[in-house]
Amino acid sequence: MSDLIVREVRGSDFAAARERADDWMGRPVGLVMHRLFFEQLGPHGVWLESDDEPVGFLLGLISVAEPDLAYVHFHIVDPARRGEGLGTRLYHEFGARAHAAGATRVRALAPLWNAPSIAFHERLGFAGDVRPDYVGPGEDRRVFERALPFENR
Ligand SMILES: CC(C)(COP(=O)(O)OP(=O)(O)OC[C@H]1O[C@@H](n2cnc3c(N)ncnc32)[C@H](O)[C@@H]1OP(=O)(O)O)[C@@H](O)C(=O)NCCC(=O)NCCS
Repeated sequence: MSDLIVREVRGSDFAAARERADDWMGRPVGLVMHRLFFEQLGPHGVWLESDDEPVGFLLGLISVAEPDLAYVHFHIVDPARRGEGLGTRLYHEFGARAHAAGATRVRALAPLWNAPSIAFHERLGFAGDVRPDYVGPGEDRRVFERALPFENR
């Protein structure tokens, strides 16, 4: 990982993310990955590149309604690069920046079908309950939260 570039998300990253996200996720990600998160909220997010190729990214923000809360909206790692700690790197980078900006907790959602995402969040020290219909009818989510900062940066 010596060549890894870690930077903010930029509006110009949208096309490259769109090209890869459905394949990386294994299903259509749809408008969850809205251009808004690149063009207007990009500087809150984290982009990982290796050999001029994207290898993962995180779309997130610091809540306007609750300024102590950082919120991860979407995050993904290239399947060819999973298990190397890149997902952890995305969260640690986001968490460090959000903490420096005043956030003391971080929230992320996981659908119940996404066992790897649930395991990932639990490994990173998140805890959370299942909330029925959280993002719409039949769309239950685990609503995970933990304190910032992360340990072991
Ligand atoms: C979830 C995801 C980001 C993890 O990325 P990653 O780079 O493989 O994660 P890391 O290597 O940092 O793993 C950290 C820990 O998470 C856990 N973990 C990661 N993937 C896991 C899996 N598939 N099953 C079980 N545990 C897993 C492991 O405990 C790991 O710790 P360890 O290395 O000490 O065992 C990646 O699987 C992914 O992109 N999934 C598809 C996108 C997605 O579902 N995003 C969430 C919804 S927005």
